[in-house]
Amino acid sequence: MSKKPVVLVVMDGVGINESKYGNAVTNAFTPTLDRLYETCPYTAIKAHGKAVGLPSDDDMGNSEVGHNALGCGQVYSQGAKLVNESIESKELFKSETWNALVNNCKDQGVMHFLGLLSDGNVHSHINHLFALLEEAKAGGVKEVRVHILLDGRDVPETSALEYVDALENKLEELNDGNFHAIIASGGGRMTITMDRYEANWPMVEAGWKTHVLGEGREFTSARAAIETYREETGVIDQDLPAFVISEDGKPVGTINDGDSVVLFNFRGDRAQEICLAFENEDFDKFDRVRKPDVMFAGMLQYDSDLAIPKMFLNSPPKIENTLTEYLVKNNINEYAISETQKFGHVTYFWNGNRAEKFDEKLETYYEVPSDVIPFEQRPWMKAAEVTDKLIEALDTNEYDFLRVNYPNGDMVGHTGNYQATIIGVETVDLQLARLIKAVDRANGILLVTADHGNADEMYEKPKKEDSPIKAKTSHTLNKVPFIIYGADVKMKDGDLGLANVANTVVKLLGLEPKADWEESIIE
Ligand code: 3PG
Ligand code: CO
Repeated sequence: MSKKPVVLVVMDGVGINESKYGNAVTNAFTPTLDRLYETCPYTAIKAHGKAVGLPSDDDMGNSEVGHNALGCGQVYSQGAKLVNESIESKELFKSETWNALVNNCKDQGVMHFLGLLSDGNVHSHINHLFALLEEAKAGGVKEVRVHILLDGRDVPETSALEYVDALENKLEELNDGNFHAIIASGGGRMTITMDRYEANWPMVEAGWKTHVLGEGREFTSARAAIETYREETGVIDQDLPAFVISEDGKPVGTINDGDSVVLFNFRGDRAQEICLAFENEDFDKFDRVRKPDVMFAGMLQYDSDLAIPKMFLNSPPKIENTLTEYLVKNNINEYAISETQKFGHVTYFWNGNRAEKFDEKLETYYEVPSDVIPFEQRPWMKAAEVTDKLIEALDTNEYDFLRVNYPNGDMVGHTGNYQATIIGVETVDLQLARLIKAVDRANGILLVTADHGNADEMYEKPKKEDSPIKAKTSHTLNKVPFIIYGADVKMKDGDLGLANVANTVVKLLGLEPKADWEESIIE
């Protein structure tokens, strides 16, 4: 008997929320999803907090930890947790790397901290920055410059000043005759520095100019920059233009030979490109004009296979024994596809932050280039093109396990545009309808799930009953769907999460479930 292909769909950012208030999932027209819910085995699974290795159940899910859990069937302590622990125990500050960074710059140079300034806990946490500042001072560093990326994507959309004020207070508290730390540059995280998957190198170039060369529009303080830009442009924090802090017409914190630089983000997708700009001798993505000879380190090593970056303050979770590893051993032919914005999610994150394949022959990746535009302008993104390719792959009958990520619910959800997000969710539904036909033709099984919520809650919870509506751009704490189409199976009850999916796939492919993974969702 021929094997049934299993197709797994990750509807990025499509969670389950009972409330209809600002819910771009239930308020969208989704006849296909509705039919699947009505006619197929279905359950809701956890995608946030401890179920995906985050410090607490107050931590919303995110794509890194979500895809890690889906792709490895286990719950690993994630970057956010590992960094907390190493800071709390002070292990981080006993490390050779930290001491080298301090010693490198304490007599003559400057210590630069660069990263996302918020408590979103997806890419970074402001408390980690505070601890680094305190310990830099304790270690004898005299000059510090902080380069801040404004969030508004993992935290409320116009909250930047809260974090800037908190940072300014911290700096004031620490500054004295021997220690001088100030904010030197910054900008919205979606305009500079934090590009991912090589979708938009000019963003990284703009960050380089801002942080390293000190080129750009000058302001006397971060607050002045934010207030001015808000008035002039009306954009939310993640989209604020870049700024350079200057005194007497001179930037206060360019990055120069002999300095130390710490990128304090712990998540890798949006950290790698700027690392390459700092580290690579032969770098051809843009003209750096000047490449300072600095000691550069990341909060984590973002890619261990490719050693990016070379120096790091914490080892990443060592995710092993993954689904792909097991499938490859069993000669299962895999196919993974998404558009650029989520391509690394279904490949690198899926395989435990591993960029290399286990087996070139058994693993096929396909990337559809994403548009470089604000996604509320094209909420359909490249979903149709992704589906075209996926259906083509399915029709070859060559693959046993196929996975796809549709970014729409998440990428459009992050813009805070409710109407566009409804269109994003409807787009995914339309693609599911097409996909089901191809799955039927292949006599296959379709699994529909998500990595975390986002579109399911597009408005902040109102503080008072008559508070005006405020857009919510971040992920949610909600559970996500797990639907099985094309197999007559029974779902288990219980406390299930994303890490239970891998053994479910294994079972549906007719393989022996792995005893050392979380159990399968089906009986
Ligand atoms: C981003 O990087 O866009 C957000 O911080 C998190 O979104 P993701 O986890 O869905 O990628
Ligand atoms: Co997201």
